[in-house]
Amino acid sequence: MNVLVTGCHGQLGTEIQKITAADQKNHWYFTDVDTLDICNGTAVEAAFSEHQIDVCVNCAAYTAVDMAEDQPEIAAFINAFAPKLLADTCLKHNALLVHVSTDYVFGGDATLPYKVDDPINPQSVYGSTKAEGERLIRESGCNYMIVRTAWLYSSVGKNFVKTMLMLGDTKDEINVVADQKGCPTWAHDLAVAIVALINKDKKEPIQETFHFTNEGQITWYDFATAIMEIGGKSCKVNPITTDQYPTKAKRPAYSVLDLSKIKEYACIEIPFWRDSLEKCIEELKKQS
Ligand SMILES: NC(=O)c1ccc[n+]([C@@H]2O[C@H](COP(=O)([O-])OP(=O)(O)OC[C@H]3O[C@@H](n4cnc5c(N)ncnc54)[C@H](OP(=O)(O)O)[C@@H]3O)[C@@H](O)[C@H]2O)c1
Repeated sequence: MNVLVTGCHGQLGTEIQKITAADQKNHWYFTDVDTLDICNGTAVEAAFSEHQIDVCVNCAAYTAVDMAEDQPEIAAFINAFAPKLLADTCLKHNALLVHVSTDYVFGGDATLPYKVDDPINPQSVYGSTKAEGERLIRESGCNYMIVRTAWLYSSVGKNFVKTMLMLGDTKDEINVVADQKGCPTWAHDLAVAIVALINKDKKEPIQETFHFTNEGQITWYDFATAIMEIGGKSCKVNPITTDQYPTKAKRPAYSVLDLSKIKEYACIEIPFWRDSLEKCIEELKKQS
């Protein structure tokens, strides 16, 4: 198969590049905004035609959740308009679109993990634009797998784990919200799951939504505490409420995702969040 990956310098795209480096079965074409702007229809069409693309994995997105509140048009262009463009191009070329979405499409008032078909109710511009991207893909008629994930981190780019480790080196104590519950996702594990989904697809028509995070459910406070422990930082973490840490964009109070569908479909076991966190911090230590 010929697989086009967009946004390949981001957290997820980088991990997909790493784990497919030795893949002899498929041809991978890695692009980011400097080589393929997903908002540029002519460039997207040219990439599909030139490489006879069978699968497009869209890792490109506008992911600055708070900044999106001030830039709704730009966020919508990248998170909704561009996925529609990719979907229309996939339909034309009979290709599969694997698109990554977010737990922030949900309202956050649930008490049980969100199933893939539960009603959405985004609370932020970022969440709304990602929800619109999902809707436009479903409406396009193309073959798609939408994979919602959450709290993504890796050894590249900006993320909560790297921020906490940096604060652990510079602060004696920090305050972290303890009333928002979700589950972190190591980008490496998500990349493995996406490759498993692609290899599983036997070119039958597929139009499905999946959820993928690591196993377990924790608060940002639990996550920060574990990062300090595993990272060997003496910085004290104090639990605070969301009200005590106002942000531009509203976050869901509860955004745990039900993982049963992807486990069954792709026949995968999903690592527990703390085990993956240990591996990522180990990787970061080797880099420094
Ligand atoms: N990060 C999270 O916590 C999180 C949580 C839930 C879901 N997700 C979803 O997971 C997916 C992957 O997230 P990530 O954390 O890997 O994202 P990321 O690190 O922000 O990477 C996104 C990549 O897309 C590129 N990009 C932006 N606009 C583009 C365009 N017009 N054309 C081509 N590339 C473009 C970015 O380039 P620049 O850096 O130059 O802009 C960046 O390299 C996204 O769909 C995101 O919405 C992320």
